[in-house]
Amino acid sequence: MKFKKIVIANWKMNPNSLSEAEEIFKGIKKRVNKFKNLKVVICSPFVYINNLKQLNKKEIISLGAQDCFNQEKGAWTSMISASMIKSVGASFVILGHSEKRLIGEDDKQINQKIKLAFKNKLKVVLCIGEKERDEEGVYFSFLENQILSALSGINRKFIKNILIVYEPIWAVGKSSRRVISDKELQEISIFIKRVLMDKFGEKDFNLIKILYGGSVSHKNVEDLIQNGGVDGFLVGRDSLDSRKFNKILDVVDKN
Ligand code: PGA
Repeated sequence: MKFKKIVIANWKMNPNSLSEAEEIFKGIKKRVNKFKNLKVVICSPFVYINNLKQLNKKEIISLGAQDCFNQEKGAWTSMISASMIKSVGASFVILGHSEKRLIGEDDKQINQKIKLAFKNKLKVVLCIGEKERDEEGVYFSFLENQILSALSGINRKFIKNILIVYEPIWAVGKSSRRVISDKELQEISIFIKRVLMDKFGEKDFNLIKILYGGSVSHKNVEDLIQNGGVDGFLVGRDSLDSRKFNKILDVVDKN
């Protein structure tokens, strides 16, 4: 991935209608034209991807999905495959989000999904994150385990198509307890890099981009990009308001 930084919108199960989705998308697209080093990705609900693609013929914004199923095709009512996502114009897929893990997605399924995503030439936005922090630092081994099980058996040639998002559950969404500090983020970023270096070696580990997600806003993003040691962000709530999201993009682009 050639760009320097990346900001990914995770719209979750929003907005409520296609027309609203198109409005937000147009509001963001106007701004994105001017960025040189910043890649912007919008991960909308599946049903909007094809329509957003029509508004985005020059691919100024990259499109993504928020999940794919862990089987290739067949009798799986309601499920969406990696190949379907690719065929409607998405190039990214979020996998392992805490809101999916919460309703039963496990490490094995995430690993299967990642393999199918790569098979279909999608870039994988892998989310990891602990629920609580303990004083002894057990959460470090929890994070290591999430990374290693998700990436188990992944062919090296796909390393460049992986982005890892650190999303501590305590900082995600409306019920988040607090915002992460730049120092805390820097520590985790170094830790993730060490895990990746041990797994993939000194030459390749840097090909994997590391992002942060969890209550990112235009108010905290400057500190986090300047001192957090990350390549970008996954933004939930503030990506649904094009004005707020564009402010985040401006800050990341300038830093
Ligand atoms: P938030 O969501 O920015 O609303 O905390 C982030 C995410 O869950 O990806």
